[in-house]
Amino acid sequence: MGNDLIQIGNAPPQGGFGVEVLAAADGAAAPALASAGKTFYIETFGCQMNVHDSEKVAGVLMTRGYRPVDSHQEADIVLYNTCSIREKAAQKVFSRLGTFRKAGPAAGKIIGVLGCVAQQEGERFFERAPQVSLVCGSASYAQLPSLLAQLESGNRRVKGLALDTEDCFETEFTRRENRFRAYLTIIEGCDQRCAFCVVPMTRGPERSRSGARIIAECRRLVDAGYTEIQILGQIVNAWRDPTPARWSFAELLARVAEVPGVRRVRFTTSHPRYFTPEIVAAVDSHPALCDQIHLPVQSGSTEVLARMLRGYSREEYLERIHYIRKAQRAISLSTDIIVGFCGESEKDFEQTVSLLTEVEYDQVFSFKFSPRPNTAALELVDTVSEEEKGRRLAVLQEAQRQIQLRRNQALVGKTFEVLVEGYQPRLGQAVGRTTSNRVLNFPGEPGEVGCYRQVKVTSAGPNSLVGEKIDDCRLTIVD
Ligand code: 5AD
Repeated sequence: MGNDLIQIGNAPPQGGFGVEVLAAADGAAAPALASAGKTFYIETFGCQMNVHDSEKVAGVLMTRGYRPVDSHQEADIVLYNTCSIREKAAQKVFSRLGTFRKAGPAAGKIIGVLGCVAQQEGERFFERAPQVSLVCGSASYAQLPSLLAQLESGNRRVKGLALDTEDCFETEFTRRENRFRAYLTIIEGCDQRCAFCVVPMTRGPERSRSGARIIAECRRLVDAGYTEIQILGQIVNAWRDPTPARWSFAELLARVAEVPGVRRVRFTTSHPRYFTPEIVAAVDSHPALCDQIHLPVQSGSTEVLARMLRGYSREEYLERIHYIRKAQRAISLSTDIIVGFCGESEKDFEQTVSLLTEVEYDQVFSFKFSPRPNTAALELVDTVSEEEKGRRLAVLQEAQRQIQLRRNQALVGKTFEVLVEGYQPRLGQAVGRTTSNRVLNFPGEPGEVGCYRQVKVTSAGPNSLVGEKIDDCRLTIVD
């Protein structure tokens, strides 16, 4: 969701904390000899899956003795974890690599490209950007230790590009950036063939981790002080327990929520096709499951949805929304939308705008259609001009802004529990988040980061709320 909006370097996000290496087993890190004392820098583009992959890659590097640094200038290994969901995102890595075009800045450094653009471009990277020594797609991350060993022994063209994997990226160590919200991958890859989407070609086939492994990781996260678990998967609700236990996705959610010490659980991204009433029932009966569901619709027109190969009509999507709205808890809804997909008429577009009015989402991530390599949409004609895509995007965003403003203003006077995620010293404001995923700022202290607070809303804008605290810190994360 909002998938190309995240862009992080090694430095912890605002309000976050330093290095957190969480051991999966009781074994200690064993630095490899060749790399001891060397440094690395990873820059990440794209979705939460990429952010978490980078956390795991960093963990792999640290077990080999590498140390994280805050800039590419200081690093012996510079890695770019890339995103190719839209053309603009894919271009970013080439502009970064431009920095190293001359031998000077690249001298002595190992430059690597990971993620979706690595998978998409493959060995072409070695020609296009000769300074690159490592190209590795996410389906090959399990091979990273051996690829790093090859680099350490002097090999200058190393690649991991196989897509036919059945493995998930399991590591003993993960360098988590945030100390109270932990990402936890439950399923990798994607078997859908949405006509616009490059992901099945860049992340490989779906493979689920076992329920027992997921719960064990969750327990370790709680032991390490995390209170919020964010469950990740490209299509998170396509998760199927590969073991004979055969838990459903809804059962898994309930079991994660029941792990003692887990206070908040979010999951993203759900596909409407696999969205069942049991998921809503689990959210209804487990307060730790956040009252927030992200359910990408992509378009409000059944004809466009059919061309997109989404596997549902507008009405079938609205059925899902209906049972979410029937829940006893008020569940906040968000979605992703593409405007200007091949053949989208003005009427189709109006149906998308009318869907926003009908559903009343609390947040919408919207994008102009961007043709991608190896996708079915390339067989269709990209009929909508760039200018018209821009116009439709602006109309849609303005309609949604009004909806959000109205919905947020209705919350003035209400009190919510927030997890304090950051602090803005300039404003003296703590940045909290409600379980419904709304940002709620209030006058606070830097020491409150990681605490849960009761905050009463005093004013509201389209994208965030402002409030005041009504109690003291109820839970403090202890160092
Ligand atoms: N063009 C524009 N947006 C896209 N998305 C995926 N592929 C494309 C594309 N080719 C959007 C979808 C998806 C989100 C992560 O990115 O809305 O849900």
